[in-house]
Amino acid sequence: MKKNVLFLATLLCFSVFVQAEEKVHNPFDPEKHDPEVLYKIKDQMMQMSYQWIDLQIMAAQTSANQSEIHSTLNTMEKSAKKIKNLNKNKELDGYMVSLIGRMQLMKQNNKKKDMVALKQNLDFMSDTCFKCHSANAFPSESNGK
Ligand code: HEC
Repeated sequence: MKKNVLFLATLLCFSVFVQAEEKVHNPFDPEKHDPEVLYKIKDQMMQMSYQWIDLQIMAAQTSANQSEIHSTLNTMEKSAKKIKNLNKNKELDGYMVSLIGRMQLMKQNNKKKDMVALKQNLDFMSDTCFKCHSANAFPSESNGK
């Protein structure tokens, strides 16, 4: 599983680097976000990725720590809400709404101790992270959904 997490983390980083190369299409450019706001968004993104990796590790354990998963999701939700409020690109808003909704669903499944559903939620969440990163890099290929 550790290998899996590393693989996913590499994929995530890769998609971030890809969009870094695509500056022209970056909706977080100074026209839409001043540098200070952009810095805050990136900072919260970075925070979310730490929690994302923690969740991958915790979800893979046989005896999952319910309270730790809950507090990790709470922290992650706070970051996601900050990003949603800072973001001025409405095309990316849908992804943030989906992400926050997924976190709330995960908290419910965690309470029910339904690890199978929790893992599915986590996969869906990872998909949203990747989809938005590529929508950001290649806006012409996506409809913002
Ligand atoms: C609403 C779209 C969207 C979603 C959803 C999203 N991201 Fe991002 N993320 C971005 C954009 C846009 C950037 C790039 C900002 C830039 O480089 O200009 C970014 C950058 C990042 C970075 C790099 C930060 C830095 O310091 O450069 C990380 C790490 C990251 N995201 C992690 C995640 C994780 C983990 C998730 C899912 C839990 C996620 N993102 C979901 C849009 C999104």
